[in-house]
Formats: sequence, C-alpha cells, structure tokens
Amino acid sequence: MAYSRDDIDNVRDKTDLVELVSEVTKVKRSGRSTMAVCPFHSEKTPSLSIDGARGLYHCFGCGKSGDIYRWVQEIQGLDFVGAVEFLARRAGVTLTVDPEAAKRRSHRERLVEATASAVEFYTNRLKSAPDGGPARSYLRSRGYDGETVEQFSLGYSPDAWEELVTALRDQGVRDDTMEKAGLASRTKRGGLVDRFRGRIMFPILDLRGDPVGFGARILDGDGPKYLNTTETPIYHKSRLLYGLNWAKSDIVRQDTSVVVEGYTDVISMHQAGMPIAVATCGTALGEDHLDLLRRFSERVVLAFDADDAGAGAALRGFDRSVPGDLDLRVAVLPLGKDPADVVAAGEIEALKTAVEESLPLIQVRIDAELGKFDLNESEARTKAMKSAAAVIALHPDANTRHEYADGVSRRTGIETRIIEQEISEARKHARARRSEDPVPPPETLERTRNLGSYKRELELLRVMLANDERLEGVEIDSSLFRDPETLAALPVVEELLKGLAVGETPDLGASIGSDDAPHVELLRRLALDVRPLDDPKELVGRLEIVEIDEEIAQINRTLHATDRDADEQGYSELVLRLVALEQDKRARREFE
Ligand code: UTP
Ligand code: MN
Repeated sequence: MAYSRDDIDNVRDKTDLVELVSEVTKVKRSGRSTMAVCPFHSEKTPSLSIDGARGLYHCFGCGKSGDIYRWVQEIQGLDFVGAVEFLARRAGVTLTVDPEAAKRRSHRERLVEATASAVEFYTNRLKSAPDGGPARSYLRSRGYDGETVEQFSLGYSPDAWEELVTALRDQGVRDDTMEKAGLASRTKRGGLVDRFRGRIMFPILDLRGDPVGFGARILDGDGPKYLNTTETPIYHKSRLLYGLNWAKSDIVRQDTSVVVEGYTDVISMHQAGMPIAVATCGTALGEDHLDLLRRFSERVVLAFDADDAGAGAALRGFDRSVPGDLDLRVAVLPLGKDPADVVAAGEIEALKTAVEESLPLIQVRIDAELGKFDLNESEARTKAMKSAAAVIALHPDANTRHEYADGVSRRTGIETRIIEQEISEARKHARARRSEDPVPPPETLERTRNLGSYKRELELLRVMLANDERLEGVEIDSSLFRDPETLAALPVVEELLKGLAVGETPDLGASIGSDDAPHVELLRRLALDVRPLDDPKELVGRLEIVEIDEEIAQINRTLHATDRDADEQGYSELVLRLVALEQDKRARREFE
C-alpha cells in the first residue's frame, strides 16, 4: 500500500458517491436525501441511503455501509488498493506510485489488463491483417459496419497456435497471467497456446466496462460454433450479462430490459435502436442473472427464438416458481427467428412491437398448455384446465393467481372456483415436493442479513456439525465469528464434537433434539441442510480476510485521528502494520 493519505483524500474529494452509486443501481433524489435500490440484497423499494456530502452510504435493508472505497470494494470485488486505483483513474488523479507497488498490482487488475491487451490484439487483427479478410467480409455480410465493430470492439483471432501468446509476452504479460485469464491454455508438453483460433471475437465486459472474457464464433472449419472463456477469477458466467455495461442506463430510463439469446442478438438490437438488450454468455438464464437485472428495471422481456427449442430454453428456468417482484414477459417473435434474424430481414418495427406488446410469462405458458388440447372436448377441457392450473400455481401472488384462474375459466367454461381448487392442490404438492428437497436456508434470514461473512460463518458451523473429514488440521478460532448468533452457537457445536475424531458423526439428538436446547433452531436448520458442504479451509481463509479487513478499517480510523507530526513514531508503526495487513491479504487472494 504505497499510496499517500493525501492522494487517497484527494480522490475522495473528487468523487461523487451519488454518481458512483447511480452507475450500478437506480437512484432517487428527493430534496436533500438520496435513496437507491440496494445492490447488495434483493429489493424493489430503495432502502440504501446515501449521504453525498459526507460520501457515506448505509442500507436500512441489509445493513451494509461504508464510504466510496468500501463501495467500490464491495461492488467490484476489489481490495482497498484496487479501489483506490480505480477511483483515481476515474477522478483523473495521478497516484504517486513507487515501482514496487506497481509490480504488486492487484491480481484482478492484472487479469483485466491482459484481457484488454488481447482485445486490442484481436481488434487490430480484424482491422488490418491480411488473414482478417474473411472475418471482415463475414461481419459485413451480417450488416455490421465499422461503427458497430468499433463500439463492440469486435476482433479476429488468427488461425494459428501462438500468435496472441507471443504478442502478449512481448508486452510483458506473464504466462501464468494469460493462463489464469483464460486467454491461453497449457499443452500436455507444457507449452502455452492461444485458446481462441480462427474465430470472430466478441469481448465480454463486466458492469463497469472492464474486459473480462470473450465469446468467440467460428468462421469456418470444425469445432463448436461458439467458444466462451472458461470460469476465471474475473469471469463468472452465472453473474455476467453480455451488453449490460452498454445497456444499463437505457434500461433504467425505460424501466425495461430485453434478454436475448446471444451476442449477435444484442448487437442487432442496438443497431435497431433498442440498446436495452443483454444476453447470457453461453449458459441458461439463472437466478443470479435476474438479481443483476432486478437492480436496473422491474420489467424483463425475454426475446428468444420462438421455435420450440427457443421457447423451451426461455421457460425452462422457471419450472419451480416465477419471481414475483419482476415483471417477467415474453416477446413473441416470428416463428424460427431470433432478434438478429428479424433485424437482418429489415423488420425492425415488428421487433419493436413484439417487445412493446410482450405478454406476461405466465400468460404465455398458460396459452401453451391450453393450446395442447382440443377445448371442444369435455375431457380435454379438464386436462387443459389442470395443466394451466399447475402453471398458475407458480405465481407467488394470490390476487394474480385469481386473475389468471378467471381467464382460464372464460376459455374453458369451467367455474373459477374449481380452477382455484386445482391451483391450491398444485401449490400443496409443490410445497410437499420442496420439503423433500434439501432444505435451503430460510428466505427471511437470507434477506435480512445478506452479509457474506455471516453466511460463511453459518456454513462453517454446518461443516462442523457434519464433522467433515476436511476439518482435519483446520484451526477454528472464535475470532473468526463476528455475528452474535453464530458466535453464541459455536461453543454448543464444539461441545458436540468433544472427544470425537474428525469424520466421526456427532450425536445431535441430545443437543438439538429438545426444543429448549440452546440455539436449537439454528442448529437444526444447519443439520438438516444436506447440500454439499463447502471446504472448511477455504471458509476459514475467507473469514480471516474479513478479520484482516476489520483491522485495516480500525487502523485507518486511528490514522485519521492521529496527528502525524506530534506522534511520528506511532504514526509510522500504524502505517507499517497497515502495509503488512494489505500484503497478507493480497497473498491470501493470490492463492484463491
Ligand atoms: P446463432 O446460432 O443464431 O448464432 O445463435 P449466429 O452467430 O447468429 O449464427 P447464424 O449465422 O445465425 O448461423 C445466436 C446466439 O446464440 C449464442 C451466440 O451468442 C449467438 O450470438 N450461441 C449460439 C452460443 O452461445 N453457442 C452456440 O453454440 C450457438
Ligand atoms: Mn443467428
């Protein structure tokens, strides 16, 4: 940590927290107070309060709070140094860096920089290399002009084994960085080769616009049509949406996002004047993606190819339930066409209409169910009603269920009352099925205390309750637990494990069998949760980082209150301790 307090304070003065927050979530200013939809937990009405003048935030929903640096650390998963570097760049402040510190730049930063270099390499190849010719004509044939290629930083990866690797090496990028960033892979003989060869490159940017990976379409020859970056420390496909960095402000403005199938669809939607499209990166739309979208708009329109496969893909994710707090809709596209096809056919207006006239997801599914039967036959009508009822049962809101039941009644002629009976049967069954499943931690807990470390503490207790083999040699100290509830439960769990060898099953009966045993509810819940256990070593490692963070925050506060001139020795001791802590933390991160 080689940045001076002056620099750090200077960056703080130049950064508007309200603006920073509005880059990732909806912000509402009313008079002096500013509220935002909290990105740290699921919510619809804003409970994150921002004090722009003092640069502090606090969420009344989940309890997260901090300053500009904390915010950037949390949102972008950076350490303190990384947050300072990011905000300095953003504020146009040149940090006084010593060369040693530059070398130790945060792990993430290194991977992003290597990826950015790769983006540059691929775009240059597309623009000027002789072997980029076929790629250029392919893009032209798709209707992508220079401006589009520029905006999306499209590129071409040469059909050769180590062109990227060689180019990046020349720029001083380390082999292990290329490998970690998913740009190159190790051969059996230990050499390093380009991962993407002979493909059109679509750089994937994260929410703040940093390149973190690629989607890559084959041009000709064999191999999968699309290759994506594999999971890396900066690329998590379950939490990335292609295009969101460009689309987010329009999504907020229009209170609508459109989810399409892939990269080409996102680009076509932008070309067609609908810059609110995003796509998953080689994976199905999941809960984490919806959490991401929920921060920007309530309405989410799914616009997939309307043929069976496409519609199925869009709907499969929601077999168990549909999120009640999102207005999830389906745009009905011409059969067999994805948005890119529709735009290519010049039917931009039809696409706009399809988005504007999108139907609620539940409605589309009900229609699909009813469509499977001949409603002129009485037996078929009953069957149709039952499958429709099963769909309606997925909706969490009773009023909405009633409305849909009414609709089905009109279409089948069956009394609403009977349909509603059917729906509540279906809900009962669903509940019973759910309780046979591994027990997830109760929702309320997740919502009210959505704190990473609290969850890890719970998980550690659960691993202990199972007396998992991997606990062997892992030191668990009460200082790892900062939540009063988990801290209080720890001795109870330790008591249970007394005298047992690692791996021996503890007898839970005595301690959690009776209703008035201490912490019985918590322990029962943990013991009943049969999902796979996390690795205790990793849990402890991460909790230790939290511990380090707290000490860092403590020292920072003390430093603030210390008069440097009056107590030079005390001051530099604290700074030294801070440096040591930051280094310790970085070292731990490297091993993740
Ligand atoms: P398409 O198959 O339509 O891809 O899938 P395309 O590049 O437009 O190919 P043609 O020219 O129509 O044949 C549309 C989107 O689905 C994703 C990609 O993001 C693509 O942009 N996709 C498709 C994949 O991720 N993997 C695949 O194997 C196929
Ligand atoms: Mn296509």
